[in-house]
Amino acid sequence: MAGLFSDFQLKDVTLRNRIAVPPMCQYMAEDGRVNDWHTAHYAGLGRGGAGLVIVEATGVLPEGRITPHCLGIWDDAHVSGLAEVARLIKQAGSVPGIQIAHAGRKASAHRPWDGDDHIAEADPVSWTPVGPSAIAFGGQLDRVPEALDQAGILRVQTAFVDAAKRALEAGFEWLELHFAHGYLAQSFFSPHANQRTDEYGGDADGRGRFLIETLAAVREVWPERLPLTVRFGVAEYDGNDAVTTPESIELLQKFKTVGTDFVSVSLGFNTPEADIPWGPGFMLPLAERVKTEINLPVATAWGLGAPRLADRAIQSGQIDVAMIGRAHLANPYWPLSAARTLAQARPEWVLPAPYAHWLERYQDVKDLAE
Ligand code: NDP
Ligand code: FNR
Repeated sequence: MAGLFSDFQLKDVTLRNRIAVPPMCQYMAEDGRVNDWHTAHYAGLGRGGAGLVIVEATGVLPEGRITPHCLGIWDDAHVSGLAEVARLIKQAGSVPGIQIAHAGRKASAHRPWDGDDHIAEADPVSWTPVGPSAIAFGGQLDRVPEALDQAGILRVQTAFVDAAKRALEAGFEWLELHFAHGYLAQSFFSPHANQRTDEYGGDADGRGRFLIETLAAVREVWPERLPLTVRFGVAEYDGNDAVTTPESIELLQKFKTVGTDFVSVSLGFNTPEADIPWGPGFMLPLAERVKTEINLPVATAWGLGAPRLADRAIQSGQIDVAMIGRAHLANPYWPLSAARTLAQARPEWVLPAPYAHWLERYQDVKDLAE
């Protein structure tokens, strides 16, 4: 029976355990470029012991960034910095993944610690967000996006393809398309955001078209030997999930046909009016439902930071990989403390010799580290 510390194989990639760091925006870039913050941050997460480290939402176009400080992959000049990040993660024994993204109508916002709201239109650092329709998200993201015309849709899809090529060139071995969290792709599927009357709107087939086409185009350039994955929101908690969730699972079936290897099951975040039942592991039943109904390996995140909970979720077959987010910000060596909690032998992969030597030798620091 697999558990948190079992390895996991998908295509030609093997994770040393089932612990993944999900993408988490750092909002520390200028012009989309990797800097010392990112290299140190991601190298640390790789050393921490997770089997997979997925680099934060990385903009396929400048206007696809959430904030002016998000990472980018719209230019060949971004490749060398990202390659350094991928190299450092891999050198630490983890598999380097990246999430490529377009923020849609949620773009052009302040960083969370600067307010999280849309930047004022008059501010020269802002830009006009785009979306499926000219409908604002609401709340403090109140800027009305420009509805993409068909040329605009093609431009974004081409940007996803070019970004996938650059991700491969940079050495990433796990590609995640950001089809979740109310950003552009997820918003195309949502009636909250998409009220188009052309073939990219209307029923679930129409609203799913942008996502299917984008995935299919990326599949053409991303090698079969490496995992092509999507993060997709299957629930909104807006009172309409009796309709939304089955439609979402049907769309995932189509993703599977087109070539998705793995799904990171998440939330829609298409409306500020949602009433989400936050709590440890609250997304596990939905993740299990997706796994059962579409028969693909899945992960989920959301409050799995208690090691026994994450381990049980894998042992019971609800999920294949556990995404451990904020707990890794608190402690990049989360896998080490999880191993102790679960009474695993200290995993050799966690501690490189310059640390392990001292921790083995002195009980006082050993206790601190574990
Ligand atoms: P907010 O972070 O403003 O959160 C919206 C509401 O959800 C708030 O009431 C907030 O509570 C609550 N909330 C969010 N996350 C949690 C949690 N893990 N546990 C308990 N309550 C939570 O909204 P955003 O739209 O900025 O972010 C929505 C989600 O997306 C967040 O969970 C965040 O982790 C994630 N995120 C995704 C990004 C991406 O996909 N690129 C980028 C950044 C964040 P409270 O007001 O108490 O904080
Ligand atoms: C996130 N999250 C997120 N999700 C995503 O798909 N792309 C991203 O770039 C980000 N960025 C991001 C930044 C920060 C600071 C946080 C806290 C979260 C969501 C994240 O991947 C994860 O789903 C949540 O944090 C829930 O998992 P945990 O933290 O409960 O393990």
